[in-house]
Amino acid sequence: RLLIIDFGSQVTQLIARRLRELNVYCEIHPYQNVTDAFLKDFAPKAVIFSGGPASVIDEGSPRPPESVFDLDVPILGICYGQQVMMQMLGGKVERGHGTAEFGRAYVEPTGAESDLLFGWFVGGREQVWMSHGDHVSEIAPGFEVYGTSPNAPFAITADVERRFYAVQFHPEVHHTPNGPTFYENFVRIAGFEGDWTMGAYKDEAIAKIREQVGDKQVICGLSGGVDSSVTAVLLHEAIGDQLTCVFVDHGLLRLNEADEVVTMFRDHYNMKLIHADESDLFLGELEGVSDPETKRKTIGKLFIDVFQKYASEIDGAEFLAQGTLYPDVIESVSFSGGPSVTIKSHHNVGGLPEKMGLKLVEPLRELFKDEVRALGHELGLPASFIGRHPFPGPGLAIRCPGEITRDKLEILRKADAVYIDQIRRHELYDEIWQAFVAILPVRTVGVMGDGRTYDYACALRAVTSVDGMTADYYPFSHEFLGETATRIINEVPGINRVTYDITSKPPGTIEWE
Ligand code: XMP
Repeated sequence: RLLIIDFGSQVTQLIARRLRELNVYCEIHPYQNVTDAFLKDFAPKAVIFSGGPASVIDEGSPRPPESVFDLDVPILGICYGQQVMMQMLGGKVERGHGTAEFGRAYVEPTGAESDLLFGWFVGGREQVWMSHGDHVSEIAPGFEVYGTSPNAPFAITADVERRFYAVQFHPEVHHTPNGPTFYENFVRIAGFEGDWTMGAYKDEAIAKIREQVGDKQVICGLSGGVDSSVTAVLLHEAIGDQLTCVFVDHGLLRLNEADEVVTMFRDHYNMKLIHADESDLFLGELEGVSDPETKRKTIGKLFIDVFQKYASEIDGAEFLAQGTLYPDVIESVSFSGGPSVTIKSHHNVGGLPEKMGLKLVEPLRELFKDEVRALGHELGLPASFIGRHPFPGPGLAIRCPGEITRDKLEILRKADAVYIDQIRRHELYDEIWQAFVAILPVRTVGVMGDGRTYDYACALRAVTSVDGMTADYYPFSHEFLGETATRIINEVPGINRVTYDITSKPPGTIEWE
């Protein structure tokens, strides 16, 4: 296994991700925990020093133990990791006076060759991503330079004999396009076979959960979305009946959704599942509410109250399981307290663990969305479930602009089901990030048969996106749109007009509210 010593970079987790993609098992440990004894016990086959915000020139700045250099294993230092390595091995680091560098840079080869650079510099220079204030001004004895950039003369350095490698840039980020090859070279030098899999990750995650939880009881909020479903199934495999899931049904779910969730988790997986059917409560409180933010806040607050009520009835619960993903972790670290404005109050259960005195179990904290899907697959969740489009916490409430009524919700559910059926029949579901119907707060005149109608209009929405932050509308064919409109009007009483929303994000958002 490979050890990543974390000096606090925002992108340390991306190093782990690159290694997982190469099927290499690694663990990230904060530098404070990495002592001589730890290293001996861990017995890494290779070590990576991450970047970090500190300056090695400052007194008391983070260091790995000296003994790491005596392990006789390959070491790769990145950014701060490079500087710390140089300073500890006899080189020099200076503060950046006008040499700080952030963003894209180009590294040129020096002509020296190394196995680390296999597949690099094939087309000349390489684009890399820099983010540093200080820089190495003198490399340590035994090191040689393999790549330089205008602001980082020691962009790539190595002591090939001892297998110590140190780079100023971040090979793990997307903006270093040839970064994956760089890591591939490093792990090959270290002798990894690349035989570690998501199946192994699952087993390790289960072992960690068992160790953390012991014989205590755990509560998990289950929405039926991919993240909470994978969390629940993983915990169930780990601790069986010590887990109780609470499924809050706010009456704003899609057609048959509540039944599907209950059947799948209670009947198929045999989990302890509380179906908190509180639709009357939610729909009652939402009566007459048409302001989008008020809707969101009302639902968010009720959700917490309801969850808390059901959870407090579970005897002896000490842990709350959440499907927090790595991108959520980065966001909360880098943007907490930031000056960004609230576009929408997103619905989550932040603050709940403290309020209820529960400790958190977050087994997906290190994973990205596609890795969660792979893990779900490993756990035997059906593909149709794993590949589902995202569905917002406030549910259909934000797809029903204006006042929410049971009638409108029923019409909306039916129209949405027809639309999704159309998309599946045409095999477009997996190409689309998210598709849904919004029922509009207008009624319009139509003619059906020989009679006049006066019914609701609806809007179809379908977007492509990578992360939900930006999106483009999906270019359906006119035939598809025509056929879908006809089906909705024929099959859904209450709708007599269908429109297609061709707004991208920005300026629109994906949801209507
Ligand atoms: P917007 O509408 O802001 O949505 O472009 C971006 C993505 O987030 C989903 N979404 C939510 N998800 N709670 C959630 O869990 C929410 O309150 C919420 N609001 C929007 C939306 O469906 C899209 O995927």
